[in-house]
Amino acid sequence: MEYNIEEIRHKLKKYGQEHLLNFYDLLDEKMQEKLLEQLNRIDYELINSLYEKTKKGFNHEESKIEPIDFIDKYKLNEEYKYYEEIGKKAIKEGKLAAVTMAGGQGTRLGHSGPKGTYDIGLDCHKSLFELLCDYLKEESKKYDVQIPWFIMTSRENNAETIDFFKKNKYFGYEKNIHFFIQGELPMIDTEGKILIGEDGLVKEAADGHGGVYESLLKSGMVDKMKELGIEWVFIGGVDNCLVKMVDPILMGIAIDKNVTAAGKSVVKANPHEKVGAFCKKNGRPSVIEYSEITDEMAEATDENGNLLYGESHILCNLFNISAIERMGKEPLPYHSAFKKATYLDKNGKVVVPDTPNAYKFEAFLFDAFGEVDDMAILRVKREEEFAPVKNATGVDSPETARKLYKNFYKLN
Ligand code: UD1
Repeated sequence: MEYNIEEIRHKLKKYGQEHLLNFYDLLDEKMQEKLLEQLNRIDYELINSLYEKTKKGFNHEESKIEPIDFIDKYKLNEEYKYYEEIGKKAIKEGKLAAVTMAGGQGTRLGHSGPKGTYDIGLDCHKSLFELLCDYLKEESKKYDVQIPWFIMTSRENNAETIDFFKKNKYFGYEKNIHFFIQGELPMIDTEGKILIGEDGLVKEAADGHGGVYESLLKSGMVDKMKELGIEWVFIGGVDNCLVKMVDPILMGIAIDKNVTAAGKSVVKANPHEKVGAFCKKNGRPSVIEYSEITDEMAEATDENGNLLYGESHILCNLFNISAIERMGKEPLPYHSAFKKATYLDKNGKVVVPDTPNAYKFEAFLFDAFGEVDDMAILRVKREEEFAPVKNATGVDSPETARKLYKNFYKLN
């Protein structure tokens, strides 16, 4: 595509971002083209408004937050069978697809590749991707269907992820696997200036898993799902090696209660566990993130001593395909995180900061929950469904995940 560099220069000036062309002449032709593509695509109004918001911080004053009702999977008694039958029937009819959000890198784990390629250290040395695929293959066999698997990558890790699958012959599940790429946004410094990365291009970062609905729609995956006869879509993270993507109870409840979304929760390990909690925001289903909840709310209990906001959101949610279409059309708010980002300074010198220096903007998938009229929440057991791998050591580390995985599958 041909870009008009003068037009771009003019636009950059208008938004105070003209430094982005400072090293243009030093780039080769291919990189110049890439830079112009970025500069042409960026929504500078959005970046400016996001910068303004970083100065204000987040507050919930405009929203009314309340606890949300939930169903405990293990207190269902005879209804258990009832929901199970409904869910099983829909799964056997091929109405379920699984989506895994795998746009992240394993940086926090000290792993240089896509997070899904990480080996949690089991004796079999399988990657997270393979563990998830094993599970899907097993469930497909159980229900005598082929459950399609949609994997969300990011620009940063897409090629490497696909290579990894190729090298591993798609773990024997090739014809059911589909990849799609999530969106990105530029990172900015504390003055609101967009950063230039080491390669001379705009420093962009994945725009959070909230983009999953829009990416599913825009990439044509929703159409593909419809062609396959899919009605229900489970969306989960790649970093939970016990993620149960195929759950007849969750599906049965959603179908029976005629809701377009259903999410799983586990009881918070403690009031300050680093997980989001399901809640109602202005009467609609939502999640209040650990970074945004006040201590008072996090510690509040009911008359029985149970946490009012104790249903952890474990990134295990099921949606009707109509809800995905609706949510994919609605713009979501962006949350900012202050991070360390390597960049080129005005003299073209690479700066590797040792403290946070830049804002990254991310949309959260649960901010779209308000689009659905109602959502069923199913409390499940942590030891059966939640073994996240987030940190190199300590809580939610390979060590804790390995232990949970081995216990669940009764391995030694
Ligand atoms: C997340 C949830 C939190 C939940 C917890 C459960 C957010 C903001 N919070 O926290 O409510 O209780 O998980 O484990 O998500 N991902 C992408 N693209 C992105 C960002 C993330 O695909 O742009 C994927 C990651 O690969 C991962 C998952 O989303 O599979 C979770 O992302 P992460 O950033 O690790 O979320 P947490 O802060 O751990």
